[in-house]
Amino acid sequence: MSANHSDPSEPRRLTDQEIIQVHDHAGEETVDDGGSYKLLPLVMLAALSSLIFFGGTYIGLYAGHFAPTVHDERGTASAVVITKVDPAVIGKKKYELLCTTCHGPAGMGTPGLFPPLAKSEWVVATDEKLIRILLNGLAGPVTVDGKEFGAAAGAVAMPAIGPGGAGWNDSDIAAVATYIRQAFGNTAPEISTEKVTEIRTKVGTRGAWSSAELQALK
Ligand code: HEC
Repeated sequence: MSANHSDPSEPRRLTDQEIIQVHDHAGEETVDDGGSYKLLPLVMLAALSSLIFFGGTYIGLYAGHFAPTVHDERGTASAVVITKVDPAVIGKKKYELLCTTCHGPAGMGTPGLFPPLAKSEWVVATDEKLIRILLNGLAGPVTVDGKEFGAAAGAVAMPAIGPGGAGWNDSDIAAVATYIRQAFGNTAPEISTEKVTEIRTKVGTRGAWSSAELQALK
């Protein structure tokens, strides 16, 4: 193998001088005290500590002391609904529950069978007359808006919804009374629970009224 320095395909041979230089440097050690690496754990420690601190503070502030209701976004709303239900809403619900069957959803009744509540003089009569009808019921012939009901033998009567009948409490009776006074085109003042309590205490539990008995009242 002949060495030919001018051949570009052959690597250049190092001179003796160069070989000595390379060996001189080979003995030297690269000084690396790891300065920049030693700082890393500290930075990580600080970052993790502040993350844990932030997380702890966040949970402490916003977790609502882990109360079971805290993440129920409707909890507050339904609590408000429970405490502030409009009596008119209760009255409508109660009406739909029991009265619609006979008097109809629009208070029109059924000709010859069930009298209407719309345009009824009984609905807008004195508080006492209406409350007595609801508490104890009404039987026998009655004229409502110019038409007679309940005259036929075996005619259906108005059932009692007070303690002796359906067993509604005073506030529900007040609510339904107020509802029928202000629905179906009727306009009459609301009836208070106190008024129902007063009349119930006065008349007690008894059979259905006749329209004559109620008309005799002032
Ligand atoms: C089983 C059918 C029936 C149900 C249920 C019923 N009623 Fe009646 N209601 C009657 C009948 C029948 C009369 C007429 C009674 C008569 O002939 O003396 C009447 C009469 C009345 C009257 C007086 C007459 C009039 O038309 O204004 C009022 C007020 C009244 N009902 C309200 C109610 C309310 C409020 C409810 C629900 C809480 C209710 N009724 C549930 C059958 C019913």
